[in-house]
Amino acid sequence: MSRLNNRHIVLGITGGIAAYKAAELVRRLKERGAHVHVVMTEAAQEFIRPLTLQALSGNPVHTSLLDPEAEAAMGHIELARWADLLLIAPASADFIAKLAGGHADNLLSTLWLACQSRKAIAPAMNQAMWADAATQRNMALLAQGGAQVFGPAAGDQACGDVGLGRMLEAVQLADAAEGQFQSRLLDGVSVLITAGPTREAIDPVRYISNHSSGKMGYALARAAANAGASVTLVSGPVSLPTPESVDRVDVTSAQDMLEAVMSRAQGSDIFIGCAAVADYRPVAVAEQKIKKNDDTMQLQLVKNPDIISAVTALAQRPFAVGFAAETEQVLEHARGKLERKLLDVIIANNVAVQGIGFNSDNNEVVLVTANDQQPLPLMGKQQLADALIERLAAMYRGRA
Ligand code: C5P
Repeated sequence: MSRLNNRHIVLGITGGIAAYKAAELVRRLKERGAHVHVVMTEAAQEFIRPLTLQALSGNPVHTSLLDPEAEAAMGHIELARWADLLLIAPASADFIAKLAGGHADNLLSTLWLACQSRKAIAPAMNQAMWADAATQRNMALLAQGGAQVFGPAAGDQACGDVGLGRMLEAVQLADAAEGQFQSRLLDGVSVLITAGPTREAIDPVRYISNHSSGKMGYALARAAANAGASVTLVSGPVSLPTPESVDRVDVTSAQDMLEAVMSRAQGSDIFIGCAAVADYRPVAVAEQKIKKNDDTMQLQLVKNPDIISAVTALAQRPFAVGFAAETEQVLEHARGKLERKLLDVIIANNVAVQGIGFNSDNNEVVLVTANDQQPLPLMGKQQLADALIERLAAMYRGRA
């Protein structure tokens, strides 16, 4: 499966003859499993109709910053957060100048400024315009700002010239986009991750559980695999596809999860406890379905084992990372857990804030260690997972 599978790509199209190749690019990205939203400048719409891109991407095409209806459906900041990659192809000389100047006078240039994820441009222009000192200066500024540059290629140009300035072909651009999701930060490192909720049986048909979707743990598994790690994901019941190259072990209860983790933890280099393990389970599981004969009923619960603490108690313990979902005094409680559970790192988030954490697509966290704390701003869970894995890999490599 492609590394673009399930990735969110915003494709920006600017005005240039190469815009026709953007239609093919959308096809190639979709073919690799990416979700694509297209943003077109006014000039781009002179070369290719939004309807074509809408049909190919399966999503409405975004054209205006000031369209209240479009903004209500998916606002520009939301779109910037949604993107795992913002790719502008083709990027005209004029648009590159706009980006280099930090302008935000249309939807695409505004998105570029607002997007904190991967950003790439595929320039397309006449060879003399490409070679001009102004364009080269603008490109250098964009590269300095962290933008990736795909191409341009040399060859025949629409204007009859021959030289550097042609946009790369759709397949080459899709390959380059795919290359953005690889790193070697965790080459040779084994990572064990728990994700999702656990279910604690009351009787054969009922259970106690919580709203964890597993999204954060799955995103971390994917990010770790993309960084070259060999990843085992011990997962409670969730409805998410297994990320590419990840070894998934399905469990139901906290007890199952503990067993699955303990048989693998000793041989793992990094353990990330992302599961929302149920704190308590019924003392006894009724053999038959409990009948509703009484007006009240009592359930006696017993504390579940703390999986992450069992891992950190091992003589040969992995580098251990926990999560602290809190509703108040977030950092104090997170620090308490860091110390009590003997963790190397704890990732704290405030689940009382709407739109982040549990069952949401976004999250905003603080990465807390014994003598440091690093806040990470609100972003999509996959984007956040990529950023977290980058930092955790640096901490893991830098320790001792
Ligand atoms: O104590 P609390 O549940 O808030 O701690 C959260 C952290 O501990 C998470 O990393 C979670 O995966 C882990 N945990 C665990 N086993 C439990 C409870 C929590 O591994 N029984």
